[in-house]
Amino acid sequence: MPRRFENLLVTGGAGFIGVNFIRWLFTQPDCPRRIINVDKLTYAGNPLSLLDLEKSVGERYVFRKADICDAAAMKEVIETYAVDAIAHFAAESHVDRSIVAPDDFVRTNIIGTYTLLQAAREHAAQIKLFHHVSTDEVFGSLGPAGFFTEETPYAPNSPYSASKAASDHLVRAYHETYGLPTTLSNCSNNYGPYQFPEKLIPLMILNASEGKPLPVYGDGMNVRDWLFVTDHCAAIWQVMQHAAPGATYNVGGRNELPNLRVVEKICDLVDAKAPPLPNGQPRRSLITFVKDRPGHDRRYAIDCAKIERDLGWQPAETWETGFARTVDWYLQNTEWCAQVRSGEYQKWIATHYG
Ligand code: NAD
Ligand code: TYD
Repeated sequence: MPRRFENLLVTGGAGFIGVNFIRWLFTQPDCPRRIINVDKLTYAGNPLSLLDLEKSVGERYVFRKADICDAAAMKEVIETYAVDAIAHFAAESHVDRSIVAPDDFVRTNIIGTYTLLQAAREHAAQIKLFHHVSTDEVFGSLGPAGFFTEETPYAPNSPYSASKAASDHLVRAYHETYGLPTTLSNCSNNYGPYQFPEKLIPLMILNASEGKPLPVYGDGMNVRDWLFVTDHCAAIWQVMQHAAPGATYNVGGRNELPNLRVVEKICDLVDAKAPPLPNGQPRRSLITFVKDRPGHDRRYAIDCAKIERDLGWQPAETWETGFARTVDWYLQNTEWCAQVRSGEYQKWIATHYG
């Protein structure tokens, strides 16, 4: 029997995957009665992404601006809304930022996850499940062959992946030590609507449409395994409903591509869908090779046989269909793009990049 939840606490629900997860879950027949979204609203969180949904579902959706490191606030939310499950997305998520300023990554990803686990533990009688959303980056970097499985040893290389690895270990420890019913998923690179345009795919779409340079790190041959965001959401929900307590699942799209190929594909899609550049050049002419990211992982690739076998999960999108949908979304949602690129984002860029 699938687990049923009444009051689901989603952390980081104003960020890229959290927004998509909440939107997607409200379309599902087994959606919990109420979803409580707790988000600190950093530069990456935008409550406007859920404004239309807020109007359409009424009291079934609650937003609370709070920091997951604030133990009193987490206790109050869990008690006020009789939370019986937690889907934990909130994190600092961008590798480049973690290289420039790791402090927030340690704070939110490690201390924040600890604070939330502790709050769940203190309400053990009412919490049916704590699901932790994590990344394949905890496994480090692959050579040209092989895949990450659930048994691959952790070997994180960036401050981001190290902080996520630490949070994964805390989740494991709270299950093993205190019997907290946890599940954990390690997913490959997501893309799709509502992703903050500092990550590769939305950055390239917007720069290409505006005729700006497309910065490709190193030789452009680093490989990522791309998954459309709602396929990730469906995987998380499958795990939350069916996985055994303590279980971990890898999630990936079997869509390995070198970065340069991704950028070229985006260029071709933008050429086909947006007005031509003033000089008539194809967007591929904007590709600019720049200095490599320090500690840049060469290749990620996920073996997702376990989630396919145990839970029958399969991605619905190929990279061809997913990239086209994503380009369409960014070209159509110019107001959202302008909004997230102003305000806090500009302040951060000014402080850290001068
Ligand atoms: P994101 O950066 O777009 O969103 C993160 C959200 O968390 C934002 O809304 C932000 O305001 C919020 N947040 C940050 N610090 C907080 C705090 N202290 N308290 C409360 N809220 C806070 O990230 P995303 O891409 O949506 O990633 C969500 C989760 O999925 C993360 O845990 C990430 O590690 C994981 N993940 C992401 C990917 C990917 O490709 N994006 C892949 C695998 C796993
Ligand atoms: P990113 O979207 O930052 O995700 P992650 O680092 O978590 O995999 O980057 C995806 C890949 O694209 C990664 O290999 C770094 C590369 N990249 C560029 O080449 N140029 C860019 O401007 C960015 C943001 C990323």
